Amino acid sequence: MAGLMVSFTIHAEQFPVNLGTLLTEEEITRANITIYPDGQNLPNGQGSVLEGRKLYNDQCAFCHGESGTEGPAHRLAGSIGLFSIWDPLRIKRIMEVNGLLVMSTGQQWPYATTIFDFVRRAMPHPTAKSLSNNQVYAITGYILYLNDLVGEQDLIDKNNLPQIEMPAFKRFVHAQ
Ligand code: HEC
Repeated sequence: MAGLMVSFTIHAEQFPVNLGTLLTEEEITRANITIYPDGQNLPNGQGSVLEGRKLYNDQCAFCHGESGTEGPAHRLAGSIGLFSIWDPLRIKRIMEVNGLLVMSTGQQWPYATTIFDFVRRAMPHPTAKSLSNNQVYAITGYILYLNDLVGEQDLIDKNNLPQIEMPAFKRFVHAQ
């Protein structure tokens, strides 16, 4: 027992606990990447749906499918939740969730701003945070386009993104 204590003490001296330093204001601002439903915290910049198409095809389509419905990763567009015979993922999904409910990002998420937040912090897997803000605006626009929520010629920015009404908005209860 005494031997154990001694060896622990030696190790603690060799490897002191490093609690780090306080973040500067600038570092705190940079780390605060949460985007709120009303668009609060959206960065400056903009991206076009057309640019988003190219980025999406290069960096996202092989996991989410060319039209956002084919998978293998989570579907981003399409289904309103109920299966139909046109559903390209129906066999796989029937096995996974017994054919009851499968919704896409476009049909399930109540706020368009959340797409920006999620893509910027978590995609493209596995090189998350490799996209610039403008690229994230463009790709967000393209995902919205795949869901028929914006036009092909649209430009997305911090002013118009929070204005887009998602189909799922009315399926949620919202705090006043
Ligand atoms: C290597 C595969 C891969 C690539 C490439 C990829 N994704 Fe994903 N994506 C995933 C997986 C897996 C998930 C599910 C993650 C989870 O639920 O935690 C996901 C989830 C998502 C979601 C959330 C879906 C939901 O409704 O829950 C969005 C939005 C998304 N990805 C967008 C993108 C975009 C945009 C790109 C390209 C910039 C991209 N992904 C590239 C694998 C990938």
